Amino acid sequence: MKQVTYEGMTFEPYITRETIAARIQELGKDIMRDCEGKKPLFVCVLNGAFPFASDLFRACEGLDAEITFIRLKSYEGTGSTGTVKEVLGLTENLEGRTVIVCEDIVDTGNTIHRLINELKAKNPAEIKVATLLFKPEALVRPVKPDYVGFSIPTKFIIGFGLDLNGHARNLNDIYILKEED
Ligand code: IMP
Ligand code: MG
Repeated sequence: MKQVTYEGMTFEPYITRETIAARIQELGKDIMRDCEGKKPLFVCVLNGAFPFASDLFRACEGLDAEITFIRLKSYEGTGSTGTVKEVLGLTENLEGRTVIVCEDIVDTGNTIHRLINELKAKNPAEIKVATLLFKPEALVRPVKPDYVGFSIPTKFIIGFGLDLNGHARNLNDIYILKEED
Protein backbone atom coordinates (compact mmCIF):
# COMPACT_ATOMS: atom_id res chain seq x y z
CA MET A 1 0.00 0.00 0.00
CA LYS A 2 1.15 3.45 -0.87
CA GLN A 3 1.12 6.72 0.97
CA VAL A 4 -1.59 9.23 0.05
CA THR A 5 -1.48 13.02 0.06
CA TYR A 6 -4.32 15.44 0.85
CA GLU A 7 -3.94 19.21 1.21
CA GLY A 8 -0.16 18.83 1.23
CA MET A 9 -0.23 16.34 4.12
CA THR A 10 1.12 12.81 3.79
CA PHE A 11 -0.69 9.83 5.25
CA GLU A 12 0.61 6.30 5.52
CA PRO A 13 -1.28 2.99 5.56
CA TYR A 14 -2.53 2.13 9.05
CA ILE A 15 -5.39 -0.41 9.05
CA THR A 16 -6.08 -2.49 5.94
CA ARG A 17 -9.52 -3.11 4.48
CA GLU A 18 -9.15 -6.83 5.25
CA THR A 19 -8.45 -6.14 8.93
CA ILE A 20 -11.37 -3.71 9.10
CA ALA A 21 -13.72 -6.20 7.46
CA ALA A 22 -12.71 -9.03 9.79
CA ARG A 23 -13.13 -6.84 12.87
CA ILE A 24 -16.58 -5.65 11.79
CA GLN A 25 -17.67 -9.28 11.38
CA GLU A 26 -16.58 -9.91 14.99
CA LEU A 27 -18.50 -6.87 16.23
CA GLY A 28 -21.54 -8.11 14.32
CA LYS A 29 -21.30 -11.45 16.12
CA ASP A 30 -21.09 -9.67 19.48
CA ILE A 31 -24.17 -7.59 18.68
CA MET A 32 -26.10 -10.64 17.43
CA ARG A 33 -25.31 -12.41 20.70
CA ASP A 34 -26.22 -9.43 22.91
CA CYS A 35 -29.40 -8.64 20.99
CA GLU A 36 -30.90 -12.10 20.91
CA GLY A 37 -34.68 -11.74 21.13
CA LYS A 38 -34.46 -7.96 20.63
CA LYS A 39 -35.27 -5.82 17.62
CA PRO A 40 -32.61 -3.11 17.70
CA LEU A 41 -32.65 0.11 15.78
CA PHE A 42 -29.26 1.03 14.33
CA VAL A 43 -28.69 4.78 14.17
CA CYS A 44 -25.95 5.71 11.72
CA VAL A 45 -24.37 9.08 12.46
CA LEU A 46 -23.74 10.81 9.15
CA ASN A 47 -21.52 11.59 7.43
CA GLY A 48 -18.52 9.62 8.65
CA ALA A 49 -20.15 6.42 9.91
CA PHE A 50 -21.88 5.40 6.70
CA PRO A 51 -19.39 2.71 5.52
CA PHE A 52 -19.03 1.27 9.02
CA ALA A 53 -22.77 1.25 9.69
CA SER A 54 -23.45 -0.38 6.35
CA ASP A 55 -20.98 -3.19 6.98
CA LEU A 56 -21.93 -3.63 10.65
CA PHE A 57 -25.65 -3.75 9.90
CA ARG A 58 -25.11 -6.40 7.24
CA ALA A 59 -22.80 -8.33 9.59
CA CYS A 60 -25.92 -8.74 11.73
CA GLU A 61 -27.80 -10.64 9.04
CA GLY A 62 -30.46 -12.76 10.71
CA LEU A 63 -31.17 -10.22 13.45
CA ASP A 64 -34.55 -8.50 13.14
CA ALA A 65 -32.94 -5.05 13.06
CA GLU A 66 -33.76 -1.70 11.45
CA ILE A 67 -31.48 1.14 10.46
CA THR A 68 -31.96 4.88 10.33
CA PHE A 69 -29.71 7.86 9.74
CA ILE A 70 -29.10 11.11 11.53
CA ARG A 71 -26.82 14.00 10.94
CA LEU A 72 -25.15 16.10 13.57
CA LYS A 73 -24.91 19.70 12.61
CA SER A 74 -22.16 21.79 14.14
CA TYR A 75 -22.42 25.46 14.88
CA GLU A 76 -19.78 27.86 16.03
CA GLY A 77 -20.77 28.82 19.54
CA THR A 78 -20.24 32.19 21.08
CA GLY A 79 -17.49 32.83 23.57
CA SER A 80 -16.09 29.84 25.38
CA THR A 81 -19.00 27.46 24.79
CA GLY A 82 -17.31 26.11 21.65
CA THR A 83 -19.17 23.91 19.23
CA VAL A 84 -22.87 23.16 19.59
CA LYS A 85 -24.34 20.14 17.89
CA GLU A 86 -27.88 19.62 16.76
CA VAL A 87 -29.46 16.32 15.79
CA LEU A 88 -31.16 16.48 12.41
CA GLY A 89 -33.59 14.04 10.95
CA LEU A 90 -34.47 11.51 13.63
CA THR A 91 -38.19 10.83 13.27
CA GLU A 92 -38.47 7.26 14.64
CA ASN A 93 -40.22 6.47 17.89
CA LEU A 94 -37.48 5.19 20.22
CA GLU A 95 -39.78 4.41 23.16
CA GLY A 96 -38.73 1.10 24.73
CA ARG A 97 -36.31 0.20 21.96
CA THR A 98 -32.73 -1.00 21.91
CA VAL A 99 -30.77 1.66 20.03
CA ILE A 100 -27.33 0.98 18.61
CA VAL A 101 -25.58 4.21 17.68
CA CYS A 102 -22.99 3.68 14.95
CA GLU A 103 -20.12 6.18 14.96
CA ASP A 104 -16.96 6.37 12.91
CA ILE A 105 -14.79 7.57 15.78
CA VAL A 106 -15.01 8.63 19.40
CA ASP A 107 -12.29 11.18 20.04
CA THR A 108 -13.00 13.66 22.87
CA GLY A 109 -16.41 12.04 23.29
CA ASN A 110 -18.20 15.41 23.06
CA THR A 111 -20.26 14.40 20.03
CA ILE A 112 -21.42 11.04 21.32
CA HIS A 113 -22.08 12.40 24.82
CA ARG A 114 -24.33 15.08 23.42
CA LEU A 115 -26.08 12.61 21.14
CA ILE A 116 -26.68 10.06 23.92
CA ASN A 117 -28.32 12.76 26.03
CA GLU A 118 -30.63 13.75 23.17
CA LEU A 119 -31.55 10.12 22.51
CA LYS A 120 -32.21 9.41 26.20
CA ALA A 121 -34.93 12.06 26.14
CA LYS A 122 -36.82 9.83 23.69
CA ASN A 123 -37.07 7.03 26.31
CA PRO A 124 -35.36 4.09 24.60
CA ALA A 125 -34.95 0.87 26.63
CA GLU A 126 -31.19 1.04 26.17
CA ILE A 127 -28.58 2.87 24.11
CA LYS A 128 -25.46 1.05 22.95
CA VAL A 129 -22.59 2.73 21.13
CA ALA A 130 -20.68 0.99 18.35
CA THR A 131 -17.67 2.87 17.05
CA LEU A 132 -15.16 1.75 14.47
CA LEU A 133 -12.38 3.73 16.15
CA PHE A 134 -11.77 4.98 19.65
CA LYS A 135 -9.07 7.34 20.94
CA PRO A 136 -9.22 6.56 24.69
CA GLU A 137 -6.47 9.04 25.60
CA ALA A 138 -8.40 11.94 24.03
CA LEU A 139 -11.62 11.24 25.93
CA VAL A 140 -12.89 14.11 28.11
CA ARG A 141 -16.46 12.84 28.66
CA PRO A 142 -17.79 9.98 30.79
CA VAL A 143 -18.67 7.73 27.88
CA LYS A 144 -17.67 4.14 27.27
CA PRO A 145 -18.42 2.71 23.82
CA ASP A 146 -19.94 -0.80 24.00
CA TYR A 147 -18.51 -2.08 20.72
CA VAL A 148 -15.08 -0.80 19.61
CA GLY A 149 -13.43 -1.79 16.36
CA PHE A 150 -9.97 -0.44 17.12
CA SER A 151 -8.53 1.62 19.98
CA ILE A 152 -5.89 3.94 18.59
CA PRO A 153 -3.51 6.64 19.85
CA THR A 154 -4.47 10.31 19.64
CA LYS A 155 -3.37 10.81 16.03
CA PHE A 156 -5.22 12.03 12.95
CA ILE A 157 -6.49 9.36 10.59
CA ILE A 158 -8.50 9.30 7.36
CA GLY A 159 -10.33 6.77 5.20
CA PHE A 160 -13.23 4.34 5.54
CA GLY A 161 -15.61 7.27 6.10
CA LEU A 162 -13.21 9.49 8.02
CA ASP A 163 -12.41 12.72 6.25
CA LEU A 164 -10.06 15.62 5.96
CA ASN A 165 -12.30 18.60 5.17
CA GLY A 166 -14.74 16.32 3.37
CA HIS A 167 -12.14 14.42 1.39
CA ALA A 168 -10.67 10.90 1.70
CA ARG A 169 -13.87 9.22 2.91
CA ASN A 170 -13.73 6.86 -0.07
CA LEU A 171 -10.36 5.38 0.83
CA ASN A 172 -11.02 1.70 1.51
CA ASP A 173 -8.20 1.44 4.03
CA ILE A 174 -7.43 3.69 7.00
CA TYR A 175 -4.39 5.96 6.83
CA ILE A 176 -2.56 7.87 9.56
CA LEU A 177 -0.95 11.30 9.32
CA LYS A 178 2.76 10.87 8.86
CA GLU A 179 4.98 12.37 11.55
CA GLU A 180 7.64 14.76 10.33
CA ASP A 181 11.10 13.29 10.61
P1 IMP B 1 -15.40 13.92 19.28
O1 IMP B 1 -14.16 14.68 19.62
O2 IMP B 1 -15.43 12.56 19.96
O3 IMP B 1 -16.63 14.72 19.53
O4 IMP B 1 -15.33 13.62 17.72
C1 IMP B 1 -15.90 14.54 16.85
C2 IMP B 1 -15.69 14.18 15.41
O5 IMP B 1 -14.37 14.53 15.07
C3 IMP B 1 -15.81 12.74 14.98
O6 IMP B 1 -17.12 12.29 14.79
C4 IMP B 1 -15.07 12.80 13.65
O7 IMP B 1 -15.94 13.28 12.66
C5 IMP B 1 -14.00 13.83 13.95
N1 IMP B 1 -12.69 13.18 14.20
C6 IMP B 1 -12.09 12.91 15.37
N2 IMP B 1 -10.89 12.35 15.19
C7 IMP B 1 -10.73 12.25 13.84
C8 IMP B 1 -9.67 11.74 13.00
O8 IMP B 1 -8.62 11.24 13.44
N3 IMP B 1 -9.88 11.84 11.66
C9 IMP B 1 -11.01 12.37 11.11
N4 IMP B 1 -12.02 12.86 11.85
C10 IMP B 1 -11.87 12.79 13.21
MG1 MG C 1 -18.48 11.41 13.15
